[in-house]
Amino acid sequence: MSLRLVARSVSGLLLLGLSLFADSPTTQALAPRKDQANAGRERISFNENWRFHRTEFQTDDLAYDYRPDISLSSNATILKPWILASGNEFIKDPANRHVRPDGHPGGDAPIVQLDFNDSDWESVTLPHDWAIQGPFYTEEDPIIGGGMGRLPVHGVGWYRNRVTLAPADKGKKIYLDIDGAMSYAIVWLNGNLVGGWPYGYNSFRLDLTPYLEEGEDNQLAIRLDNPPDSARWYPGGGLYRNVWITKTDPTHVALFGTFVTSKDVSKKSATVDLSVRIDNGPEKRTIRVEADVYEISAKSGKIGKKVAEFPSQKIELSSSDSQSVSLSTQVKNPKLWGPPPTQTPSIHAAVIRLYDGKDLVDTYETRFGIRDINFTGEGLLINGERVQIRGVNQHHDLGALGAAFNIRAAKRQLDILRELGSNAIRMSHNPPATELLEMTDAMGFLVIDEIFDSWQKKKTISDFHLIFDDWYEPDLRAFMRRDRNHPSVIGWSVGNEVGEQHDDEAGAVVARRVVAVAKDEDTTRPITASMNFAKPDMPFPPTMDIVSLNYQGEGIRDSPAYSHLTGITTSPQYPAFHDKFPDKLIFSSESAAALSTRGTYIFPVTDGISAPVNETSGGNKAAEYVSSYELYSADFGSSPDKVFRAQDNNSFVAGEFVWSGFDYIGEPTPYYSGLSRSSYFGIIDLAGFPKDRFYLYQSRWRPDLKMAHILPHWNWPERVGQVTPVHVFTSGDEAELFLNGKSLGRQKKAEFQYRFRWDDVEYQAGELKVVAYKNGERWAEDSVRTTGPASQLRLSSDADNVAADGKDLVFVTLEVVDEKRYVVSDAQNTVTFAVDGPGELVATDNGKPNDVTPFPSKERNAFNGLALAIVRATGKGKITISATGNGLQTGKVVVRGN
Ligand SMILES: *[C@@H]1O[C@H](CO)[C@@H](O)[C@H](O)[C@H]1NC(C)=O
Ligand SMILES: *[C@@H]1O[C@H](CO)[C@@H](O)[C@H](O)[C@H]1NC(C)=O
Ligand SMILES: *[C@@H]1O[C@H](CO)[C@@H](O)[C@H](O)[C@H]1NC(C)=O
Ligand SMILES: *[C@@H]1O[C@H](CO)[C@@H](O)[C@H](O)[C@H]1NC(C)=O
Ligand SMILES: *[C@@H]1O[C@H](CO)[C@@H](O)[C@H](O)[C@H]1NC(C)=O
Repeated sequence: MSLRLVARSVSGLLLLGLSLFADSPTTQALAPRKDQANAGRERISFNENWRFHRTEFQTDDLAYDYRPDISLSSNATILKPWILASGNEFIKDPANRHVRPDGHPGGDAPIVQLDFNDSDWESVTLPHDWAIQGPFYTEEDPIIGGGMGRLPVHGVGWYRNRVTLAPADKGKKIYLDIDGAMSYAIVWLNGNLVGGWPYGYNSFRLDLTPYLEEGEDNQLAIRLDNPPDSARWYPGGGLYRNVWITKTDPTHVALFGTFVTSKDVSKKSATVDLSVRIDNGPEKRTIRVEADVYEISAKSGKIGKKVAEFPSQKIELSSSDSQSVSLSTQVKNPKLWGPPPTQTPSIHAAVIRLYDGKDLVDTYETRFGIRDINFTGEGLLINGERVQIRGVNQHHDLGALGAAFNIRAAKRQLDILRELGSNAIRMSHNPPATELLEMTDAMGFLVIDEIFDSWQKKKTISDFHLIFDDWYEPDLRAFMRRDRNHPSVIGWSVGNEVGEQHDDEAGAVVARRVVAVAKDEDTTRPITASMNFAKPDMPFPPTMDIVSLNYQGEGIRDSPAYSHLTGITTSPQYPAFHDKFPDKLIFSSESAAALSTRGTYIFPVTDGISAPVNETSGGNKAAEYVSSYELYSADFGSSPDKVFRAQDNNSFVAGEFVWSGFDYIGEPTPYYSGLSRSSYFGIIDLAGFPKDRFYLYQSRWRPDLKMAHILPHWNWPERVGQVTPVHVFTSGDEAELFLNGKSLGRQKKAEFQYRFRWDDVEYQAGELKVVAYKNGERWAEDSVRTTGPASQLRLSSDADNVAADGKDLVFVTLEVVDEKRYVVSDAQNTVTFAVDGPGELVATDNGKPNDVTPFPSKERNAFNGLALAIVRATGKGKITISATGNGLQTGKVVVRGN
């Protein structure tokens, strides 16, 4: 939150109480501080005390618009003409802005009235995903299939809450800031239609001021509407990100109103340019703009030393004016922002103050980074250093927690990705929670920020194509203005595999329109759209600043193992794109699309380096498993080994974003027809447990980490004497494998070889051990052994303390172990979790894509030896998490709520 400091340290005369019931006020106003009484701005969390109700099908006569999946009654009120005006601030040409018709349709609906009785509605705290608790649809042909996660995301959901206007707030602007509402949000206040925002991934602001009355009884009602075929993955449903009330002076820094850029960056100095847009109220006013640059402490995240100030500037604002001022300053010896491990992600803040004479009218903080990024045809240079992109694609869901954003769960994902050696994330395929970008800033991840999965051409019957023409401009501008100050964002992706790629000149025309809007917002970053089809000589690619390839770089269905497949065959395209666009940066925005089920091994194993999964090779359709030898891919995909080869053979390639970092809900390729409800693409499973592939990427991305990893596990009583290939991933360059102490040979890595494989090993129980070498020196070891039967449950937590703030979480890993405490890697025991003390179980998982036990269940099958429990503190004190299982010794772990 760019306003974090401001919200904490600045208050005003404003006392806005937000409460649902008069007898239980939850005044969240900040204590007033006399010295800054007129500092103007407060940003108050509005996540508590909501009432929620959902109907599976449309039962009211309200709708944003006609849609292929709903049949509206002839009485239906189409609200689109009123909603379109909510985007006006982000439409550049005044001629294209929408004139809102008179009146407040829907204002008479009982549900938006103050006296509507919502006491039997569910009480919810935001962020809230109405679908994640399930249950999963398990029937054939459900309304929501595996593609969207088999969860009840569709339908109409209403949220109600009350807003208080304190006497002291009269004359202030009061805004409702919604970070994400899935989808087609329409908002009423006191029976007045305030506005709305259809696209579920964008953040938006509505002005409540005209409709607020003094007192506590301002009734807010928000209607959301999710079509059943809105996406190719799980979108979630509801007010799934944070919601805020922002209060400002009538004269204030506009929404997303700052833009900080740096140029002429060196270790000695940098020029920092700041533009500030100021919205004025009804009175004519002269405003002095002052702004300073501070360092942000990496440790505390707080404002530190002042390192520069901008010259102050005066601006005359007429009634209801909106104007920008541009300021520039020099920072001497700037601490630069750059990705670890070779650089440090230093953060700065610009603090802007608006004065009317001596009165401080507004204070606004924007965090940014000083860095020089150069996108060249030979790769990415950050502050002059060539940095290879070791990226992953991430969907927005947080596994068992669904789409409901949670900082702790997102941080856990980033920590696991950092352990993997990843330095980059592509936000596939939509704007992320803004808090996630604050974390990528602080940790130094490089981000490709992406907004659309479709333009005019549809992928599903009710996806964004329905509203593209009306909304692409306001959505794109709002998204870019929100995210443009994040140093981690290095480029904008305006589309993913859009159908317009296939559309020759007509598609390029649309692309140029979208790109022109993006360039009008930001010329400091390249604009791109990811191409899984367009070839260098087609009209589409030249419209983009950088070449963003999905799967084409390494080739699609081009190697012998894929030759029996139908579908487009594409030879490796890196060289052709490089020849055609020698000065443009090239990277794989999606690579691999490898598939696997954690800890599952299927025989025989292909002897090639990459093969499509099918019933006779790597797959088991009945069980819905893909072998974790990590050689199998989707029909259009490739193994990691094949991708690495293509990259190393084309050294100009800037790197890759693997599809995908974590498994995510929906898109269960290749098992749409079974019960699967989450993906197989992840390097890490849905529960956050690394698959074997994790160590293959780690061996490449962290060459200095001494590591070796053996697969498969070694519990194969039914395979005695049978060939059971053993593969090893290591950052070493040589390795020797031992079975029960006997060497099975020492191997050296050849060029374009990324794994060691002993494909003729005959299984016998015991211990497999690998010793890896680098430059002739002993480097790392790993071993796996045949275990005894499951005998106990072992729990461990990823934190000792958990804040009792309703948001913090602790992730507890359960391992099924034998008597000697070795993990039984094929154990599937049913376990029951319990929480004693001031804590509660939020969800459980095991990373198995076709497990249809609802996520909140306390009972869960371990999957290949592991399960996960997610726990929240409800108060201070000792919280004991335990797990029991039939015939197994109980496991326990203690954490402290505080
Ligand atoms: C439309 O509204 C009229 C008057 O309120 C009502 O009688 C009629 O049943 C409604 N028709 C439908 C299809 O809902
Ligand atoms: C609201 O409805 C509940 C039952 O759904 C009822 O118990 C309660 O009395 C109602 N309140 C009012 C004010 O009518
Ligand atoms: C970017 O790097 C290229 C190649 O090294 C160099 O020619 C060019 O001058 C650089 N551009 C900037 C703006 O630094
Ligand atoms: C499965 O893929 C292999 C290549 O890896 C191919 O030889 C085989 O014919 C395929 N089997 C089926 C059933 O498609
Ligand atoms: C490297 O690329 C060339 C063509 O540019 C190709 O002929 C060769 O087979 C590739 N080598 C590998 C190992 O993929």
